[in-house]
Amino acid sequence: MEVIRNVAIAGASGALGSPILNALLKSELFNVTVLARQSSQAQFPASVKVVRVDYNSVPDLTAALTGQNAVVSVLTTSAMETQIPLIEAAMKAGVRRYLPSEFCANIGNPKAASLPVYHSKLAIHEAIKQQARDHPHFTYTLIRNGPFLDWSMAYGFFFSLDGGSTPFYDGGDRPFSTTTLATIGRAVVEVLRHSEETRNRAVFVQDLVTTQRKMLAIAQKVAPDCKWTPSDVSTADMEIMARDKYANGMVDLAASMGFFCRSVFGEGYGGEFQEVDNELLGIPLKTDADLEELIRGLLQYPSSEGRAVLNPQISDRSLKRAYRKMGAVTLELSKHEFDSIGALEENERGFFIAKRPFTFNMNESMVSANLPEEVFPFQTLCLLEDLSDHESKLMEQLLFESQRLSPRMKDSMETGLFWVCLAARYSSMFDEIYWTFIDRRYYGTFSC
Ligand SMILES: NC(=O)c1ccc[n+]([C@@H]2O[C@H](COP(=O)([O-])OP(=O)(O)OC[C@H]3O[C@@H](n4cnc5c(N)ncnc54)[C@H](OP(=O)(O)O)[C@@H]3O)[C@@H](O)[C@H]2O)c1
Repeated sequence: MEVIRNVAIAGASGALGSPILNALLKSELFNVTVLARQSSQAQFPASVKVVRVDYNSVPDLTAALTGQNAVVSVLTTSAMETQIPLIEAAMKAGVRRYLPSEFCANIGNPKAASLPVYHSKLAIHEAIKQQARDHPHFTYTLIRNGPFLDWSMAYGFFFSLDGGSTPFYDGGDRPFSTTTLATIGRAVVEVLRHSEETRNRAVFVQDLVTTQRKMLAIAQKVAPDCKWTPSDVSTADMEIMARDKYANGMVDLAASMGFFCRSVFGEGYGGEFQEVDNELLGIPLKTDADLEELIRGLLQYPSSEGRAVLNPQISDRSLKRAYRKMGAVTLELSKHEFDSIGALEENERGFFIAKRPFTFNMNESMVSANLPEEVFPFQTLCLLEDLSDHESKLMEQLLFESQRLSPRMKDSMETGLFWVCLAARYSSMFDEIYWTFIDRRYYGTFSC
């Protein structure tokens, strides 16, 4: 196979995409092109060629991929199916190697493969294998790395960063393979360099094999003042709950976590890789001392990766300065009267509403419940009613027309219990929900 020189990467702005893009650039071996959504707000280094694409359009993608030798997809978990047109376009454009957005547990293991959270990745396997069978110029490599080591630790996946109660899955002794984001970036570079040896197969890479107990023992050593209380959690129970939720259409993060934990810590799910390709790729294993260094860095400077928390080493002076700045922003915002709802921007004249509203909850619905971005408003909204109008229409369309409500959920909507629970969960919206959906239902219309 000819040397791979031109590489396109999709999803380069993401949690894993950024370190992979860095590794590709740092290697100085490739001409790198980033594919980004037209709606993406992501910023990339000025030296990188960025092509905005419509992931639904095979002709658009084919044009973007013409001249590329390889495509690395690092698209988000909830948009796996976006790769179907991307794969077709890659084949049509003459791309020789496709790396799908895999980067997960060993889903070649039949038990792991049975977990619904991985079914969208398995559907992608079918699509690339079919293309590789029909068009021998098209080849693929699946990279499996286990849970992201630094990223998962920063999110408290292996043990709680703040001490206190922390779950030990299936006893906390199950060895599992795990890899940092930077090493995965390096693995991508090496797979492209070793294209012949990595053709049409899964490549396994790991930084080390460890257990939750080992990690917690290291944490206890580096932070002796912090106290942890491990509690046993059964991944079999987590799987049962997750399956129940998925069966009722509740594809949320908690349910997906149940499946992820099962694939990493469950007995017989292949969490510890039996054979790895580190040697072929020239990637050395990390040692316990490296792990200790990582944990020490995370516990002393917890905001370093992903998780925004206050650095305990911060000086009183810096803290006061930060609080003063936050106070100034809050005061500034409280002076404004906005006539529409949307995202704020600041210019020399102050704050103004510049873009469509995009709330944390909307983002969660996209990431966790697979809602397409197009269903959310594109412009700023004039009045509060517009927002609730939009939300009602969306709910009707998504929930009722597509008949995705479970009987329990339908019942809850009909009795109004849904709104009571929603108001209880979203205290910031309590008033709005109460007066719009609850009060009239239970107490009738207002009378003087
Ligand atoms: N092993 C583990 O522990 C672990 C953990 C997390 C993720 N993963 C896997 O790693 C891969 C990457 O995940 P990630 O967490 O890095 O992804 P991410 O940060 O959530 O998103 C990656 C990029 O996907 C693009 N994107 C987002 N929504 C999209 C949509 N609806 N349609 C098309 N593109 C969209 C965005 O790029 P632009 O804005 O530039 O278009 C985004 O920056 C996935 O396969 C995931 O399953 C593994």
